[in-house]
Amino acid sequence: MAAGEEARADGQRRGRSGDPCVMVICGASGDLTRRKLIPALYNLAQGGLLPANFAVVGFSRETTSTQAFRDLLAGEFERHATGPVDATLRDRLLSRVYYQEGDFRDPAAYARLEALLSQVDAEQKTPGNHLFYMATPPAFFTEIALQLGAAGLLREEEGRWRRVVIEKPFGHDLESSRALNRALLAVMQESQIYRIDHYLGKETVQNLMVFRFANGIFEPIWNRRYVDHVQITVAEGLGVEGRGGYYEEAGALRDIVQNHMLQILAFTAMEPPISFSATAVRDDKAKVLHAIQPLLPEEVLTRTVRGQYGRGRVGGADVPGYREEPNVAAGSNTETFVALKLSVDNWRWADVPFYLRTGKRLAARSTEVVVQFRRPPFRLFRGISGDGLPPNQLVLNIQPNEGIALSFGAKIPGPDVRLGQVDMSFQYDDYFGSRPSTGYETLLYDCMIGDATLFQREDMVEAGWDIVAPILDVWKALPARNFPNYAAGSMGPKDADDLLARDGRAWRGSDDDPGGRHRRD
Ligand code: BG6
Repeated sequence: MAAGEEARADGQRRGRSGDPCVMVICGASGDLTRRKLIPALYNLAQGGLLPANFAVVGFSRETTSTQAFRDLLAGEFERHATGPVDATLRDRLLSRVYYQEGDFRDPAAYARLEALLSQVDAEQKTPGNHLFYMATPPAFFTEIALQLGAAGLLREEEGRWRRVVIEKPFGHDLESSRALNRALLAVMQESQIYRIDHYLGKETVQNLMVFRFANGIFEPIWNRRYVDHVQITVAEGLGVEGRGGYYEEAGALRDIVQNHMLQILAFTAMEPPISFSATAVRDDKAKVLHAIQPLLPEEVLTRTVRGQYGRGRVGGADVPGYREEPNVAAGSNTETFVALKLSVDNWRWADVPFYLRTGKRLAARSTEVVVQFRRPPFRLFRGISGDGLPPNQLVLNIQPNEGIALSFGAKIPGPDVRLGQVDMSFQYDDYFGSRPSTGYETLLYDCMIGDATLFQREDMVEAGWDIVAPILDVWKALPARNFPNYAAGSMGPKDADDLLARDGRAWRGSDDDPGGRHRRD
């Protein structure tokens, strides 16, 4: 086990800054660098977590110089910062930024990169630790990895480390993801690969583990004896935001379900790991993903719903339908909404359905996990007003109003016995204040200390593709005929409500949700 791997487990990470290193951003001229990576590095510096000996090297096709690159970043710094900017700290960070122009297919570009890295290591006293961040379109991942390998830039010698961060998508399907993994593993070890899923950088997603495993009261009821079903919703108000070209090829199933939603599901359903080390946590996450039964073709027809938004109103403004977005085909069959019913076939979760739904241009942005508990076995308050209260729900709100709420029945004050539903709720802001962040801080920091707990492992990525593959196959063979089938600003197609209604259940907050009705009464 790599030394850094246990960093989280043994508490070494607390308060210490990352290892001295150079972060090489491949594809640095893209907007991820300006929007997320530089602001996240700044936030780390502000929190004292960026190593004193640190530098960034931008590596891209664009012709520019180190000074021009620094000026570009400086010009947009305030706009993308998550809080007030301290000019001294900003200038100190930017003074450690360098730029190397190069064509990713040209071996000579990597020789020039190597020369610059030697110079930077000497200037900034970074001892040869290099973090390569692939912020390029996925088509370049393999090429860049192979070229870095051929140039000897991934060799870990004399105590120095070399790590490679890869952004999603990890392939387009099981086959292409395996091919990508094979290419990566031809030039580096699995322990050098950090596959980023930015949902794992969200505090509230990480809190799922703390909530479950740092408290004694939830785990005993976190199973099929007490839980009726689980709902996971990732609702977005935004549309495809100019990414029509990418989205046409991806669709909601690949873009959100295969990665972000399955990661949330894994944290919700995993067994308690034997330690907080990367290996232990990822072993148990992988196990639960492997326990999800891939759907049979006939199940795809009854347990999945796909949708695509038409025109509508979101946030008081008229918005176009998906097929009217730039770079989207006029007759596009790409899904912008998915609802699924999955089963986790193990002792803990047998017969407990996991309902997942995600969509773009929905009524409001909201990501939440709802654990709905079984009803009491006996109706003591039969015939009393309010009898038949909705079952208890635990709602883990991941964004935007981060918090946790438990709903239960209570006696409405008064001489007669009437029942009403109440919420016991905790809001992150109230306890910890709001800490604006890009979501990349923890993940970049973890790369610098060598903690891969929050990164996807090869087997987890492949398990994700195994789960969505049969759905992709059936949907491809039977293209949707009714698109667009939901209006922008709604909560998706009616079929998604029917998926739960057939089981006598309802999405939280939907018109059929008895909890919603009781709360409104
Ligand atoms: C990305 C998807 O991974 O996640 C986008 O490609 C999506 O389509 C985004 O909008 C959602 O992220 P967040 O953090 O805004 O919920």
